[in-house]
Amino acid sequence: MSVTQPPNLVLVPGTPQPRVSDGRTSIVHVVGARPNFVKMAPVIEALDRRGVFQQTVVHTGQHYDSKMSDRVLADLDFPAVDIFLGVGSGTHGVQTAKVLSAFEKVLIDIDPDVVVVAGDVNSTLACALAASKLGIAIAHVEAGLRSFDWSMPEEVNRVLTDRLADILFAHSPEATDNLKAEGICPGKVYNVGNTMIDSLRRAEKRARELEAWESVGFAERSYILVTLHRPSNVDDPARLQAIVGGLVGLAKHSPVVFPIHPRTRARLAEDGGLALLEEAGVACIEPVPYLEFLSLQAGAGAIVTDSGGVQEEASALGVSCYTFRPNTERPITLTHGTNVLLGEDPAEIAEVRPSPHPPTPCAIPLWDGHAGERVADVLVERYAVRELMEAGA
Ligand code: UD1
Repeated sequence: MSVTQPPNLVLVPGTPQPRVSDGRTSIVHVVGARPNFVKMAPVIEALDRRGVFQQTVVHTGQHYDSKMSDRVLADLDFPAVDIFLGVGSGTHGVQTAKVLSAFEKVLIDIDPDVVVVAGDVNSTLACALAASKLGIAIAHVEAGLRSFDWSMPEEVNRVLTDRLADILFAHSPEATDNLKAEGICPGKVYNVGNTMIDSLRRAEKRARELEAWESVGFAERSYILVTLHRPSNVDDPARLQAIVGGLVGLAKHSPVVFPIHPRTRARLAEDGGLALLEEAGVACIEPVPYLEFLSLQAGAGAIVTDSGGVQEEASALGVSCYTFRPNTERPITLTHGTNVLLGEDPAEIAEVRPSPHPPTPCAIPLWDGHAGERVADVLVERYAVRELMEAGA
């Protein structure tokens, strides 16, 4: 089948054109935002080793800043992106709609056998919806996570993506239970473990050797790493001001490093919060690439965050994590990891203390560095057995 470039499609300079079908089962992988890259790198790599799929990687461009995208991809040795949609930012509706329509054109051109989406960002739902409307099979990596909080845009994305998916890759028994409770056919659900931890284990040694805490002038284990970007925490000026108060209180007793997400920085710059943090001695830095961020996590005495992935990575590294949210869709990090729910009161932030003890990495079942291999095995079994038989494998 010949593949032509759909209108409005921007290709990443220096990457190949969309490929002409070579007769193998065709699989399209979707990435859009920072956490997607980390979750999908091990899957693409594991499938590449099996060689039975013709893989195409589509980057929607939801995240586009070099620090949020290119440098993260480079740290992960992410395979070349084949198609870049360049969708960028917008309201949730606009962003989702732009990805949906741009990705539909790609699917019509490539006509793949299966589309793989990951996580819960707007690109995940938009691409699953586009594939579903065209009758193309969908596999969802990180299915079944539920915060049961419908005010989170990610919860809407998760639930709807799971309804559309044909294959659901869960990372924990709680996630498979959630899917079962929603009536998803158990035959579609595979508990494969956590592909994000595959990436972590691969990069851990290099990250530790970086000693990124030194570049911010802090001693290992002495400091608290902070990340905050959820709309519920940063979009309301009064709430953000109260959170700044909590962080100023934190900085009174401990060194604090805060790599600031662009949406958070924009809000902080609007109302003077950034200046208050800097005056209090908080190291307000730009978002850092993957290896540097892993290094900052590994060397921290504690982490305060509202991110989903950080709860998992901190648990795998054994570093205390205080999640500044009333709930988590990752309860396994509470029961088997290092995560504690801090709740919603900004005053609680100032109470966190760094732990001087060396971290003890948590052994969470199937978070063993081989989840990508298990995802690949299922995809081969479900979609490429014909090719294997023809090849006499
Ligand atoms: C998105 C995901 C969130 C995930 C987070 C990881 C959704 C609904 N949210 O949130 O689940 O935890 O990614 O980072 O999909 N911006 C830039 N440069 C960029 C990207 C964004 O400046 O490269 C700014 C823009 O002002 C944009 C804002 O950040 O409007 C928000 O970006 P967006 O992708 O909409 O959501 P995130 O907050 O990044």
